[in-house]
Amino acid sequence: MISYRIRSLDNAIDAASFCCGQAILDEYIRRYAAQDVRRHVARVFIAVPESNPKNLAGFFTLSAGSVNCSDLPESLAKKLPRYPVPVALIGRLAVATDFQGKGLGSILLADACRKVAHASETLAVAGIVVDAKDVAAAAFYRHFGFLTLPGQPARLLLPATAFQD
Ligand SMILES: CC(C)(COP(=O)(O)OP(=O)(O)OC[C@H]1O[C@@H](n2cnc3c(N)ncnc32)[C@H](O)[C@@H]1OP(=O)(O)O)[C@@H](O)C(=O)NCCC(=O)NCCS
Repeated sequence: MISYRIRSLDNAIDAASFCCGQAILDEYIRRYAAQDVRRHVARVFIAVPESNPKNLAGFFTLSAGSVNCSDLPESLAKKLPRYPVPVALIGRLAVATDFQGKGLGSILLADACRKVAHASETLAVAGIVVDAKDVAAAAFYRHFGFLTLPGQPARLLLPATAFQD
């Protein structure tokens, strides 16, 4: 079992050769992630193996967002106000090909949920939203309890009750 360290993106990591099988996510971490951090539009967290801290094994991003009540499943919408509600957004999450299928995706998702739960003690969110890049990614999130938003098969939400006390 590999142990990982998760920390904020910094200059010590070389993302140039990161490859997860989704070109758009590879391009993001290689070229745009640091810029997003500088512009305060995303926090980017990276995972490295304890045994090889220069090897980028995976990453995820967190930002603030909102969803319209009308976009939510009826069971959730009826408990929320009619105006747009605040959510946390996992904009991107990816595991390098060499590390896939070994539990890192679930470690990253659990860490993202923990960070959001902690932040939500001071900044309320009604849930965590992810935009899945394809059908397989959507299945990954559903595996962990995310609900598909009606009419938006690529957008999923984990209600706050699932990750807060
Ligand atoms: C999708 C991805 C993040 C999964 O990461 P991973 O490290 O391979 O997944 P894990 O090994 O942690 O799997 C955790 C669990 O999810 C399940 N799982 C993984 N991929 C799945 C999928 N596509 N559909 C359903 N379940 C899936 C595993 O079976 C495992 O279940 P278990 O805990 O009951 O054994 C990774 O494959 C990846 O980065 N893919 C390419 C980029 C991508 O599609 N990112 C998401 C875009 S938003």
